[in-house]
Amino acid sequence: MEQISDLQKNLLNDVESADTLEALEALRISVLGKKGQITGLLKTLGSMTPEQRKESGPLLNQLKNRIIDAVTVKKDTLEKAGLDARLKKERVDATLPVRPQTQGTIHPVSQVMDELAEIFADLGFAIAEGPDIENNFHNFTALNIPEEHPARQMHDTFYLAEKEESARKVLRTHTSPVQIRTMINQKPPIRIVAPGRTYRSDSDATHTPMFHQVEGLVLDRDIHMGHLKGCLEAFVTAFFEIDHVKMRFRPSYFPFTEPSAELDIGCHFDGDTLRIGEGDDWLEILGCGMVHPKVIANCGIDPDEYQGFAFGCGIDRLAMLKYGMTDLRAFFESDLRWLRHYGFAALDIPTLAGGLSR
Ligand code: DAH
Repeated sequence: MEQISDLQKNLLNDVESADTLEALEALRISVLGKKGQITGLLKTLGSMTPEQRKESGPLLNQLKNRIIDAVTVKKDTLEKAGLDARLKKERVDATLPVRPQTQGTIHPVSQVMDELAEIFADLGFAIAEGPDIENNFHNFTALNIPEEHPARQMHDTFYLAEKEESARKVLRTHTSPVQIRTMINQKPPIRIVAPGRTYRSDSDATHTPMFHQVEGLVLDRDIHMGHLKGCLEAFVTAFFEIDHVKMRFRPSYFPFTEPSAELDIGCHFDGDTLRIGEGDDWLEILGCGMVHPKVIANCGIDPDEYQGFAFGCGIDRLAMLKYGMTDLRAFFESDLRWLRHYGFAALDIPTLAGGLSR
Protein backbone atom coordinates (compact mmCIF):
# COMPACT_ATOMS: atom_id res chain seq x y z
CA MET A 1 0.00 0.00 0.00
CA GLU A 2 2.78 2.35 0.95
CA GLN A 3 4.48 1.53 -2.31
CA ILE A 4 1.39 2.21 -4.39
CA SER A 5 0.74 5.60 -2.85
CA ASP A 6 4.40 6.57 -3.36
CA LEU A 7 4.21 5.44 -6.96
CA GLN A 8 1.03 7.47 -7.43
CA LYS A 9 2.69 10.57 -6.02
CA ASN A 10 5.69 10.16 -8.30
CA LEU A 11 3.62 9.50 -11.38
CA LEU A 12 1.31 12.46 -10.75
CA ASN A 13 4.42 14.58 -10.41
CA ASP A 14 5.74 13.30 -13.70
CA VAL A 15 2.44 14.08 -15.43
CA GLU A 16 2.43 17.56 -13.97
CA SER A 17 5.97 18.27 -15.14
CA ALA A 18 5.45 17.06 -18.73
CA ASP A 19 5.74 20.32 -20.64
CA THR A 20 4.90 19.26 -24.18
CA LEU A 21 2.19 17.08 -25.69
CA GLU A 22 4.89 14.73 -27.02
CA ALA A 23 6.49 14.31 -23.58
CA LEU A 24 3.06 13.65 -22.06
CA GLU A 25 2.26 11.01 -24.66
CA ALA A 26 5.62 9.28 -24.13
CA LEU A 27 4.92 9.22 -20.40
CA ARG A 28 1.42 7.86 -20.92
CA ILE A 29 2.77 5.00 -23.01
CA SER A 30 5.50 4.19 -20.49
CA VAL A 31 2.92 3.98 -17.70
CA LEU A 32 -0.36 2.85 -19.28
CA GLY A 33 0.80 1.30 -22.58
CA LYS A 34 0.97 -2.42 -23.24
CA LYS A 35 4.36 -2.69 -21.57
CA GLY A 36 3.74 0.17 -19.17
CA GLN A 37 4.50 0.26 -15.48
CA ILE A 38 0.91 0.12 -14.22
CA THR A 39 -0.07 -2.42 -16.86
CA GLY A 40 2.78 -4.58 -15.57
CA LEU A 41 1.55 -4.27 -11.99
CA LEU A 42 -1.98 -5.21 -13.02
CA LYS A 43 -0.60 -8.34 -14.65
CA THR A 44 0.90 -9.48 -11.31
CA LEU A 45 -2.65 -9.78 -9.87
CA GLY A 46 -2.96 -13.17 -11.58
CA SER A 47 -0.19 -14.71 -9.50
CA MET A 48 -1.40 -13.38 -6.12
CA THR A 49 -3.30 -15.25 -3.45
CA PRO A 50 -7.03 -14.38 -3.38
CA GLU A 51 -6.51 -12.29 -0.20
CA GLN A 52 -3.66 -10.32 -1.68
CA ARG A 53 -5.64 -9.79 -4.85
CA LYS A 54 -8.67 -8.54 -2.92
CA GLU A 55 -6.50 -5.93 -1.30
CA SER A 56 -4.27 -4.91 -4.22
CA GLY A 57 -6.79 -5.13 -7.08
CA PRO A 58 -8.94 -2.12 -6.16
CA LEU A 59 -5.86 -0.08 -5.25
CA LEU A 60 -4.15 -0.72 -8.57
CA ASN A 61 -7.28 0.07 -10.52
CA GLN A 62 -7.71 3.28 -8.59
CA LEU A 63 -4.13 4.19 -9.34
CA LYS A 64 -4.69 3.52 -13.02
CA ASN A 65 -7.82 5.70 -13.12
CA ARG A 66 -6.15 8.55 -11.25
CA ILE A 67 -3.30 8.59 -13.74
CA ILE A 68 -5.65 8.42 -16.75
CA ASP A 69 -7.60 11.40 -15.35
CA ALA A 70 -4.43 13.35 -14.67
CA VAL A 71 -3.13 12.72 -18.20
CA THR A 72 -6.46 13.83 -19.72
CA VAL A 73 -6.51 17.05 -17.71
CA LYS A 74 -2.86 17.79 -18.50
CA LYS A 75 -3.40 17.12 -22.20
CA ASP A 76 -6.27 19.58 -22.27
CA THR A 77 -4.17 22.20 -20.49
CA LEU A 78 -1.24 21.77 -22.87
CA GLU A 79 -3.50 22.00 -25.94
CA LYS A 80 -5.12 25.18 -24.68
CA ALA A 81 -1.75 26.69 -23.90
CA GLY A 82 -0.54 25.81 -27.41
CA LEU A 83 -3.55 27.49 -28.99
CA ASP A 84 -3.13 30.59 -26.83
CA ALA A 85 0.51 30.83 -27.86
CA ARG A 86 -0.41 30.56 -31.54
CA LEU A 87 -3.14 33.17 -31.23
CA LYS A 88 -0.69 35.54 -29.57
CA LYS A 89 1.91 34.98 -32.27
CA GLU A 90 -0.30 34.97 -35.37
CA ARG A 91 -1.82 38.35 -35.87
CA VAL A 92 -4.11 39.47 -38.67
CA ASP A 93 -2.59 42.37 -40.53
CA ALA A 94 -5.63 44.35 -41.61
CA THR A 95 -3.44 46.69 -43.67
CA LEU A 96 -2.45 43.96 -46.17
CA PRO A 97 -3.97 44.32 -49.65
CA VAL A 98 -6.70 41.81 -50.54
CA ARG A 99 -5.64 38.75 -52.50
CA PRO A 100 -6.39 39.02 -56.20
CA GLN A 101 -9.54 37.10 -57.16
CA THR A 102 -9.14 35.10 -60.32
CA GLN A 103 -12.31 35.02 -62.32
CA GLY A 104 -12.97 32.64 -65.18
CA THR A 105 -13.69 33.88 -68.67
CA ILE A 106 -16.25 32.90 -71.26
CA HIS A 107 -14.73 30.63 -73.91
CA PRO A 108 -14.86 32.10 -77.43
CA VAL A 109 -16.96 29.12 -78.58
CA SER A 110 -19.57 29.78 -75.87
CA GLN A 111 -19.48 33.46 -76.72
CA VAL A 112 -20.08 32.80 -80.42
CA MET A 113 -22.86 30.32 -79.62
CA ASP A 114 -24.57 33.01 -77.54
CA GLU A 115 -24.16 35.54 -80.33
CA LEU A 116 -25.65 33.10 -82.85
CA ALA A 117 -28.59 32.33 -80.57
CA GLU A 118 -29.29 36.03 -80.20
CA ILE A 119 -29.01 36.81 -83.91
CA PHE A 120 -31.26 33.92 -84.94
CA ALA A 121 -33.73 34.64 -82.15
CA ASP A 122 -34.16 38.09 -83.70
CA LEU A 123 -34.92 36.37 -87.02
CA GLY A 124 -37.62 34.24 -85.37
CA PHE A 125 -35.66 30.99 -84.90
CA ALA A 126 -35.93 28.70 -81.88
CA ILE A 127 -33.01 26.66 -80.48
CA ALA A 128 -33.16 22.88 -80.98
CA GLU A 129 -30.94 20.21 -79.51
CA GLY A 130 -30.09 16.59 -80.15
CA PRO A 131 -27.83 13.96 -78.57
CA ASP A 132 -24.09 13.73 -79.28
CA ILE A 133 -24.43 9.94 -79.50
CA GLU A 134 -26.60 9.25 -82.52
CA ASN A 135 -27.77 6.26 -84.47
CA ASN A 136 -27.17 5.60 -88.16
CA PHE A 137 -30.73 6.53 -89.02
CA HIS A 138 -30.61 10.14 -87.78
CA ASN A 139 -26.96 10.79 -88.64
CA PHE A 140 -26.99 9.22 -92.13
CA THR A 141 -29.93 7.25 -93.48
CA ALA A 142 -32.74 9.79 -93.01
CA LEU A 143 -30.41 12.47 -94.39
CA ASN A 144 -30.26 10.55 -97.65
CA ILE A 145 -26.59 9.62 -97.14
CA PRO A 146 -26.24 6.29 -98.93
CA GLU A 147 -24.66 3.25 -97.32
CA GLU A 148 -21.50 3.53 -99.44
CA HIS A 149 -20.96 7.28 -98.84
CA PRO A 150 -17.37 7.99 -97.64
CA ALA A 151 -18.69 9.91 -94.62
CA ARG A 152 -19.91 6.61 -93.24
CA GLN A 153 -16.48 4.98 -93.38
CA MET A 154 -14.44 4.31 -90.27
CA HIS A 155 -11.83 7.00 -91.01
CA ASP A 156 -14.35 9.79 -90.62
CA THR A 157 -16.84 8.54 -88.13
CA PHE A 158 -16.33 7.50 -84.53
CA TYR A 159 -18.36 4.33 -84.01
CA LEU A 160 -19.30 3.04 -80.59
CA ALA A 161 -18.69 -0.63 -79.92
CA GLU A 162 -21.87 -2.63 -80.46
CA LYS A 163 -22.39 -6.27 -81.38
CA GLU A 164 -25.18 -5.79 -83.85
CA GLU A 165 -23.93 -3.88 -86.90
CA SER A 166 -27.29 -2.26 -87.65
CA ALA A 167 -27.65 -0.93 -84.09
CA ARG A 168 -24.18 0.59 -83.98
CA LYS A 169 -24.18 4.08 -82.48
CA VAL A 170 -22.00 6.92 -83.75
CA LEU A 171 -20.72 10.20 -82.37
CA ARG A 172 -22.66 12.56 -84.58
CA THR A 173 -20.49 13.76 -87.44
CA HIS A 174 -22.57 16.91 -87.96
CA THR A 175 -25.52 18.73 -86.42
CA SER A 176 -27.78 17.76 -89.36
CA PRO A 177 -29.44 14.87 -87.42
CA VAL A 178 -31.14 17.57 -85.34
CA GLN A 179 -33.01 18.53 -88.52
CA ILE A 180 -34.39 14.99 -88.68
CA ARG A 181 -35.32 14.87 -85.00
CA THR A 182 -37.09 18.23 -85.30
CA MET A 183 -39.05 17.33 -88.44
CA ILE A 184 -40.15 14.02 -86.89
CA ASN A 185 -41.28 15.66 -83.67
CA GLN A 186 -42.72 18.98 -84.81
CA LYS A 187 -45.25 20.09 -87.35
CA PRO A 188 -44.25 22.78 -89.86
CA PRO A 189 -43.81 25.71 -89.90
CA ILE A 190 -40.36 25.04 -88.45
CA ARG A 191 -37.61 27.58 -87.85
CA ILE A 192 -34.75 26.26 -85.73
CA VAL A 193 -31.03 26.58 -85.19
CA ALA A 194 -29.14 23.77 -83.48
CA PRO A 195 -25.69 24.61 -82.12
CA GLY A 196 -23.62 21.81 -80.62
CA ARG A 197 -20.67 19.46 -80.57
CA THR A 198 -19.76 17.27 -83.52
CA TYR A 199 -17.05 14.62 -83.95
CA ARG A 200 -14.80 13.35 -86.71
CA SER A 201 -11.60 11.39 -86.68
CA ASP A 202 -9.41 14.26 -87.85
CA SER A 203 -6.66 16.38 -86.29
CA ASP A 204 -4.46 19.24 -87.57
CA ALA A 205 -4.24 23.05 -87.20
CA THR A 206 -7.76 23.51 -88.57
CA HIS A 207 -9.40 20.21 -87.51
CA THR A 208 -9.97 18.74 -84.06
CA PRO A 209 -11.73 15.42 -83.34
CA MET A 210 -14.43 17.38 -81.51
CA PHE A 211 -15.64 20.64 -83.00
CA HIS A 212 -18.81 22.72 -83.08
CA GLN A 213 -21.43 23.37 -85.71
CA VAL A 214 -24.66 25.25 -85.94
CA GLU A 215 -27.43 23.83 -88.06
CA GLY A 216 -30.30 25.88 -89.43
CA LEU A 217 -33.62 24.62 -90.77
CA VAL A 218 -36.67 26.43 -92.10
CA LEU A 219 -39.66 24.47 -93.34
CA ASP A 220 -42.93 25.99 -94.47
CA ARG A 221 -45.14 26.33 -97.54
CA ASP A 222 -43.53 28.33 -100.39
CA ILE A 223 -40.01 28.61 -98.96
CA HIS A 224 -37.45 29.24 -101.72
CA MET A 225 -33.77 30.03 -102.19
CA GLY A 226 -34.46 33.75 -101.94
CA HIS A 227 -35.37 33.19 -98.29
CA LEU A 228 -32.15 31.26 -97.76
CA LYS A 229 -30.06 34.06 -99.26
CA GLY A 230 -31.83 36.78 -97.30
CA CYS A 231 -31.53 34.87 -94.07
CA LEU A 232 -27.82 34.14 -94.49
CA GLU A 233 -27.08 37.72 -95.48
CA ALA A 234 -28.82 38.98 -92.34
CA PHE A 235 -26.87 36.47 -90.28
CA VAL A 236 -23.44 37.29 -91.76
CA THR A 237 -23.84 41.07 -91.49
CA ALA A 238 -25.09 40.82 -87.91
CA PHE A 239 -22.40 38.35 -86.86
CA PHE A 240 -19.43 40.21 -88.36
CA GLU A 241 -20.99 43.58 -87.44
CA ILE A 242 -20.77 44.98 -90.96
CA ASP A 243 -23.31 46.89 -93.09
CA HIS A 244 -22.83 45.03 -96.35
CA VAL A 245 -21.41 41.71 -97.34
CA LYS A 246 -20.32 40.48 -100.73
CA MET A 247 -21.67 36.93 -101.05
CA ARG A 248 -21.28 34.13 -103.56
CA PHE A 249 -23.32 30.91 -103.61
CA ARG A 250 -21.09 28.28 -105.19
CA PRO A 251 -22.89 25.16 -106.49
CA SER A 252 -22.02 22.14 -104.38
CA TYR A 253 -23.30 18.74 -103.38
CA PHE A 254 -24.84 17.44 -100.16
CA PRO A 255 -27.04 14.34 -100.16
CA PHE A 256 -29.63 16.10 -97.99
CA THR A 257 -30.13 19.24 -100.10
CA GLU A 258 -31.09 19.87 -103.70
CA PRO A 259 -29.88 22.22 -105.00
CA SER A 260 -26.86 22.54 -102.70
CA ALA A 261 -24.46 25.43 -102.35
CA GLU A 262 -21.53 26.66 -100.37
CA LEU A 263 -21.57 30.24 -99.21
CA ASP A 264 -18.43 32.31 -99.75
CA ILE A 265 -18.10 35.82 -98.43
CA GLY A 266 -15.84 38.54 -99.80
CA CYS A 267 -12.74 39.50 -97.82
CA HIS A 268 -9.31 41.02 -98.14
CA PHE A 269 -6.18 41.50 -96.08
CA ASP A 270 -5.54 44.98 -94.76
CA GLY A 271 -1.88 44.55 -93.72
CA ASP A 272 -2.12 41.65 -91.28
CA THR A 273 -5.80 42.11 -90.55
CA LEU A 274 -8.46 40.15 -92.36
CA ARG A 275 -11.36 42.42 -93.36
CA ILE A 276 -14.62 40.63 -93.93
CA GLY A 277 -17.36 41.79 -96.28
CA GLU A 278 -15.45 43.49 -99.12
CA GLY A 279 -12.53 42.55 -101.35
CA ASP A 280 -11.42 40.20 -104.06
CA ASP A 281 -10.67 37.16 -101.90
CA TRP A 282 -13.29 34.64 -100.86
CA LEU A 283 -13.85 32.84 -97.59
CA GLU A 284 -15.95 29.71 -97.52
CA ILE A 285 -18.17 29.83 -94.46
CA LEU A 286 -20.97 27.27 -94.71
CA GLY A 287 -22.88 24.65 -96.64
CA CYS A 288 -26.55 25.08 -97.44
CA GLY A 289 -29.36 24.28 -99.82
CA MET A 290 -33.02 23.44 -100.25
CA VAL A 291 -33.96 20.43 -98.12
CA HIS A 292 -34.10 17.33 -100.34
CA PRO A 293 -37.71 16.11 -100.84
CA LYS A 294 -36.59 12.61 -99.82
CA VAL A 295 -35.37 13.95 -96.46
CA ILE A 296 -38.68 15.68 -95.84
CA ALA A 297 -40.55 12.49 -96.75
CA ASN A 298 -38.23 10.40 -94.51
CA CYS A 299 -39.57 12.44 -91.60
CA GLY A 300 -43.21 11.80 -92.46
CA ILE A 301 -43.91 15.23 -93.99
CA ASP A 302 -45.33 15.67 -97.49
CA PRO A 303 -42.65 17.36 -99.65
CA ASP A 304 -45.29 18.54 -102.13
CA GLU A 305 -46.86 20.58 -99.38
CA TYR A 306 -43.77 21.81 -97.53
CA GLN A 307 -40.36 22.97 -98.67
CA GLY A 308 -37.48 24.43 -96.80
CA PHE A 309 -33.87 25.41 -96.64
CA ALA A 310 -31.08 24.27 -94.37
CA PHE A 311 -27.53 25.26 -93.61
CA GLY A 312 -24.65 24.00 -91.51
CA CYS A 313 -21.75 26.10 -90.33
CA GLY A 314 -18.59 25.50 -88.27
CA ILE A 315 -18.76 27.58 -85.10
CA ASP A 316 -15.07 27.33 -84.19
CA ARG A 317 -14.10 28.71 -87.58
CA LEU A 318 -16.55 31.59 -87.17
CA ALA A 319 -14.90 32.39 -83.83
CA MET A 320 -11.43 32.23 -85.40
CA LEU A 321 -12.46 34.59 -88.19
CA LYS A 322 -14.19 37.10 -85.93
CA TYR A 323 -11.73 37.12 -83.04
CA GLY A 324 -8.45 36.40 -84.84
CA MET A 325 -7.28 33.04 -83.49
CA THR A 326 -5.10 31.02 -85.84
CA ASP A 327 -4.82 27.52 -84.36
CA LEU A 328 -8.00 25.58 -83.68
CA ARG A 329 -6.25 23.07 -81.40
CA ALA A 330 -5.63 25.83 -78.83
CA PHE A 331 -9.41 26.07 -78.35
CA PHE A 332 -9.48 22.78 -76.50
CA GLU A 333 -6.14 22.70 -74.67
CA SER A 334 -7.44 24.56 -71.59
CA ASP A 335 -4.31 26.71 -71.42
CA LEU A 336 -5.20 29.45 -68.92
CA ARG A 337 -3.00 32.01 -70.68
CA TRP A 338 -4.91 31.43 -73.93
CA LEU A 339 -8.27 31.49 -72.15
CA ARG A 340 -7.45 34.75 -70.37
CA HIS A 341 -6.29 36.32 -73.60
CA TYR A 342 -9.13 35.23 -75.85
CA GLY A 343 -11.88 34.70 -73.27
CA PHE A 344 -14.67 37.17 -72.59
CA ALA A 345 -15.54 38.84 -69.31
CA ALA A 346 -18.78 37.56 -67.85
CA LEU A 347 -21.51 40.04 -67.05
CA ASP A 348 -23.50 39.71 -63.86
CA ILE A 349 -26.74 40.61 -65.58
CA PRO A 350 -28.25 37.67 -67.44
CA THR A 351 -27.92 38.15 -71.15
CA LEU A 352 -27.84 35.88 -74.14
CA ALA A 353 -24.62 37.29 -75.53
CA GLY A 354 -22.92 36.57 -72.24
CA GLY A 355 -19.57 38.26 -72.68
CA LEU A 356 -17.85 41.56 -73.19
CA SER A 357 -14.84 41.99 -75.38
CA ARG A 358 -11.88 42.54 -73.07
N1 DAH B 1 -23.77 18.70 -92.53
C1 DAH B 1 -22.85 19.35 -93.45
C2 DAH B 1 -21.43 19.08 -92.98
O1 DAH B 1 -21.22 18.77 -91.87
C3 DAH B 1 -23.10 20.81 -93.49
C4 DAH B 1 -24.39 21.16 -94.13
C5 DAH B 1 -24.46 21.42 -95.48
C6 DAH B 1 -25.55 21.24 -93.38
C7 DAH B 1 -25.63 21.74 -96.10
C8 DAH B 1 -26.76 21.56 -93.99
C9 DAH B 1 -26.78 21.80 -95.36
O2 DAH B 1 -27.90 21.64 -93.32
O3 DAH B 1 -27.96 22.16 -95.94
O4 DAH B 1 -20.53 19.21 -93.76
